[in-house]
Amino acid sequence: MTDSSISKFFEKSRKDRLDLVANFAKLSKEELDILQNDNGGISFDKADKMVENAIGTFSLPLGIATSFLINGKDYLVPMVIEEPSVIAAASKGAKIARVKGGFTVSADESYSIGQVQVLDVTDFSLAISQIKNSTNDILELANSQSNTLSKMGKGAKEIFCKELDTPSGKMLILELLIDVGDAMGANVTNTMCEAISPLIEKITGGRTLLRILSNYSTRRLVKATAVFDKEAVGGEKVVDNIVSAFEFADNDVYRAVTHNKGIMNGIIAAANAAGQDSRAIEAAANAYAAKSGKYRSLSKWSKDNDGNLVGTLEIPLSVGIVGGIANVHPVAKICMKILGIASAKELACVITATGLAQNYSAIRALSTDGIQKGHMRLHARNLAAAAGATTNQIDEIVQKMIEEKKISLDKAKELLDQI
Ligand code: MEV
Repeated sequence: MTDSSISKFFEKSRKDRLDLVANFAKLSKEELDILQNDNGGISFDKADKMVENAIGTFSLPLGIATSFLINGKDYLVPMVIEEPSVIAAASKGAKIARVKGGFTVSADESYSIGQVQVLDVTDFSLAISQIKNSTNDILELANSQSNTLSKMGKGAKEIFCKELDTPSGKMLILELLIDVGDAMGANVTNTMCEAISPLIEKITGGRTLLRILSNYSTRRLVKATAVFDKEAVGGEKVVDNIVSAFEFADNDVYRAVTHNKGIMNGIIAAANAAGQDSRAIEAAANAYAAKSGKYRSLSKWSKDNDGNLVGTLEIPLSVGIVGGIANVHPVAKICMKILGIASAKELACVITATGLAQNYSAIRALSTDGIQKGHMRLHARNLAAAAGATTNQIDEIVQKMIEEKKISLDKAKELLDQI
């Protein structure tokens, strides 16, 4: 099976869902066992080696968003999130985007930015020109820290300098641009920054203080676009309303934060499943939302000449497929296999498309029925399933709970008894 648009995936039993995913991603029996194990994937021993003062592990739901077609390839997107409706919303967005060919996504090369803060510089122009003259030596020293990157023709590539005016005086900031390939790159970036700092002190006569990666990964931008067919969206009036919903977010910070939170629902859930550093992703995305000097919508929505809805999402996104917890956490490793990812860039494309799909569904719901209707229906469906209803009984129980405005597990059980 290569088609990710699996009909009524949510109504299937856990076993059927797992079989479908296993079939799609060619999971082994061992991998299926890990997914079914119910311990969230890591033992206490592993947890104890990952963080300090460990006392246990903490698991969250892992679900699969279906129907993603990204750059012509089908994906099932694993998502780790505690909030109901998010996975359904991502799948719905992906399903509608599919009508017009899915998501088109492009990602920059994986350039990480490292920063070295230089204090006590007396002559800034001289220091900067000396750094420029020593570029090759600095890059060589940085690259001596990673044989792996150097062998691949990657590694530190460029150096930039900027002067910063601060209340305590002027400081020189040196930025190292590093092609980190398929890694997220935090470690190698920090190592290179620390390694070059004695040389920077020697060249500038200054004193280096901070030597650290910048999580504002503006050299790792990802841009996703999708056309949402006007009929599938619900007609041109709905398209117009979605554009108005976007304009609200783009011009009002109170709305923009919530709108972007919806995007992050998709991005972070997909990133968590793939074992990525979600704090880095959030911090960068929020800064990018304010890049114009005003906090705005991260996505853009407009109507094309045929009346279809066009959505675009551009974010800085630093993710990796080598190193990090993606290679340690057994469930994250399986999620990577389900994604069928071959590069960090590909992972970035999938995560960004998930954010756009999520945003579509949220603002579509908000500009039509409101968010609660679908949310309550899903909640009711989950309760009916939890009460033990079969696939054929679920719809009837859900309908009755909604009509009677009593959505609870007890009510679902009572209705099931009546059937
Ligand atoms: C809820 O987690 C996310 C939404 O509030 C996003 C939005 O308002 O666009 C529904």
